[in-house]
Amino acid sequence: MNHQTNLIDLGDLSFHHWKEIVGLALKIQEHPSDFYGALTGKILATLFYEPSTRTQMSFQTAMLRLGGQVIGFDNPQNSSVAKGENLKDTITVVSSYADIIAMRHPLEGAAKAAALHANCPVINAGDGGHLHPTQTLTDLTTLSKYKGRLSGLTIGLCGDLKYGRTVHSLIKALCHFPNNEFVLISTEELSVPSYITDLLDAHGCHYQKISALTDAIPELDVLYMTRVQQERFASQEEYLAQKDVYVLDAEKLSGAKKDLCILHPLPRVDEIQIAVDDDPRACYFKQAQCGVYARMALILTMLQRPELCGQPLFSGKESKIHACTNPKCITNQESYLPRHFVENGDLLVCEYCDQRILI
Ligand code: NCD
Repeated sequence: MNHQTNLIDLGDLSFHHWKEIVGLALKIQEHPSDFYGALTGKILATLFYEPSTRTQMSFQTAMLRLGGQVIGFDNPQNSSVAKGENLKDTITVVSSYADIIAMRHPLEGAAKAAALHANCPVINAGDGGHLHPTQTLTDLTTLSKYKGRLSGLTIGLCGDLKYGRTVHSLIKALCHFPNNEFVLISTEELSVPSYITDLLDAHGCHYQKISALTDAIPELDVLYMTRVQQERFASQEEYLAQKDVYVLDAEKLSGAKKDLCILHPLPRVDEIQIAVDDDPRACYFKQAQCGVYARMALILTMLQRPELCGQPLFSGKESKIHACTNPKCITNQESYLPRHFVENGDLLVCEYCDQRILI
């Protein structure tokens, strides 16, 4: 059973420790060779049940640069998952081989479910449309380096704010820093889930929801573009209706601040024109590189100072009566998982996927 050193959400670390990890990432970026060999003999397992280029390879590069080694799969069809193995059994076994696991899965709450059965720390490398905390550490590292601050920023987030897990994790993090304002640029259909706006309200953060990118651009310090998450739509028609709504091009950028920082977690499809890559404000490829340093800093911290990521997996109660109503919640696929909810007035909040259920 779990030793409770995991990174499922950034909330598993204190605010102070995020800043320490970002500081360490910047230090590694300045002097990478000082950290080579720091984790000799350690093994990272990368279990990717969903496609990935940057997240998977930056985790692998991070571990190799630290002197450790890497095992894992990037296509579950080549593992015993194809024979019907459940998550519990895969994780129980892999965590007896590896010292730390980075896992990406299409179902929401899957990383937490994995952590429940792992005998080594688990890092959430993306759970469906829910969260992506290590992309957020990457984004915070990038903003610290290229923008010079994490507070007093007007941040525009544009595109698929509904299914974009990077957006959810980034908002959750940036609302902890003082004087940040958010401009949520999306169609009605792809606006942020209500648990995110509730969080902004709870932190007293100023935010506006708008649909026109051109109107928002002049006031922004940061523009975080996102891909429309084709794989999470119920139908192709719904995806096609949203696909090309937002495209950043030179004309739109003509109204932007000279020191705007343009980010994108990548992969880009059509939402940023290729010509924008040559604009000095385009930071997304530097951002992808920062991902290696952020993940080096995270793995080092989790293996060398495990006490820092020691949050219990659940704070609410197990329920034998209620089931999560989110069909994409891991608890609806892996039926042996205990169902845990936090009570919030007349709502129950699923502790795996944040879905709210009216009692
Ligand atoms: C993102 C993801 O997987 O959520 N990519 C990444 O990790 N860098 C964004 C996306 O897939 O659109």
